[in-house]
Amino acid sequence: KRENYSNLRGTTDFSPLEASHFTAIQNSAREMFCRYGYEEIILPVMEESGVFIRGVGVTSDIVEKQMFQVTRKIGEDKKDVVLRPEGTAQVIRYYLQNSLHKKSNFHKFFYSGPMFRGERPQRGRLRQFHHLGAEAIGSSSIYLDAEVLILALKVLAAVGLNDINLKLNSLGCLEDKKRFSSLLKARLEDKKDQLCPDCQRRLIVNPLRVIDCKNKACREVVMSLGVAEEYLCKDCRGEFKRLAAFLDNVKVPYSYDPYLVRGLDYYTNTVFEITSKRLGSQDALGAGGRYNNLISDLGGLDIPAIGFALGVERILLALNHQQEVSSFDVFVAKIDNSMVDECFSVVEALRYKGLRCDSDFTDKSLKGQLRYAQKKGARYVVIVGQDEWKRDKVLLKDMNESIQLELSVKEVIHKLLNSD
Ligand code: HAM
Repeated sequence: KRENYSNLRGTTDFSPLEASHFTAIQNSAREMFCRYGYEEIILPVMEESGVFIRGVGVTSDIVEKQMFQVTRKIGEDKKDVVLRPEGTAQVIRYYLQNSLHKKSNFHKFFYSGPMFRGERPQRGRLRQFHHLGAEAIGSSSIYLDAEVLILALKVLAAVGLNDINLKLNSLGCLEDKKRFSSLLKARLEDKKDQLCPDCQRRLIVNPLRVIDCKNKACREVVMSLGVAEEYLCKDCRGEFKRLAAFLDNVKVPYSYDPYLVRGLDYYTNTVFEITSKRLGSQDALGAGGRYNNLISDLGGLDIPAIGFALGVERILLALNHQQEVSSFDVFVAKIDNSMVDECFSVVEALRYKGLRCDSDFTDKSLKGQLRYAQKKGARYVVIVGQDEWKRDKVLLKDMNESIQLELSVKEVIHKLLNSD
């Protein structure tokens, strides 16, 4: 019996067209990360679960409900393995494992790759999705905060997304977060009955998580609390004001959102999220913030850090590409099958010089080959015919114009390499 397999719910097959858009985004991001002094690292998709349990936090949704456990334990290795749900804790694991603080007191890394979360799939919310992430480790300067924010915006602008919103908040230091937590607990206590069962539990284990809840009733309760900045100590409030003033100065538009807390436990001080109106309910294109205690939480020294990650699939949704892209620029057609060897050699000569080209493998007539070339969006067609070949020539046809030139292969190459 034949099975009808399809891709798993919450995963995406990228067609050649979608893959070309995906790669274009990755390339622009990579270029921008390098311009800002970030170095690429490539880390595994599998990690020991502890990295995220300790790093992202036991009370986060990611750890509580969404980690994909790799159940097969190979050989002696009895480690509890998961598919990585995010990159930050993993980058810090890499940083600590290699004692990178001994090599330099400041590092900038970027990464791109798939992340896995067992969420309920919907538009913009997947179980396997891709991050473009950056992490800067070793400084608590607000100028680094500003640079990281600007970099995230620059990457989005480079791929064509300018109409976006930047939401900004500060969670303060660990002490401030505790104060924020108690304050929420106290204010939510008598509104407990209006919260969803999950939030009633969150109120006990980690009240900050109530703020993240997407449930409408919970959101209404949260919005009525009127929390803002009051939990911040003098230093953290001062730093946040300095950052805000600097962003104003350099004309980076943002909006202060006192209800932005982020769903991962490692954040301290600056947190941000970038949203787009072009997306639906899952409107965050990317997000990030400081995590000044993560390195010490994972067993390292007291080293501050900040970073962000953009979601590639959300960027693709927001761009909503319409145009087709061509898979090659030149199609080499043979007048008939007697010219197949000659045609093959012309294709290879063109490719050798760096031209993207292809030819027919399915015995199409000349008319059929021209139709195919047009459908594939080839700008030029080279026709290899017996008569011209005897004169060491081929025909070059510009698909945008009606002219056809008789040229040598060398002249064709010269012309195509110098065309726009
Ligand atoms: P995050 O907010 O969980 O942060 O993810 C960052 C971005 O990834 C989101 O804004 C969204 O665009 C995309 N994303 C997240 N979950 C999904 C999903 N299920 N389906 C599709 N796209 C998704 C982090 O992961 C942090 N590590 C960011 C960071 C880096 N903070 C500091 N450094």
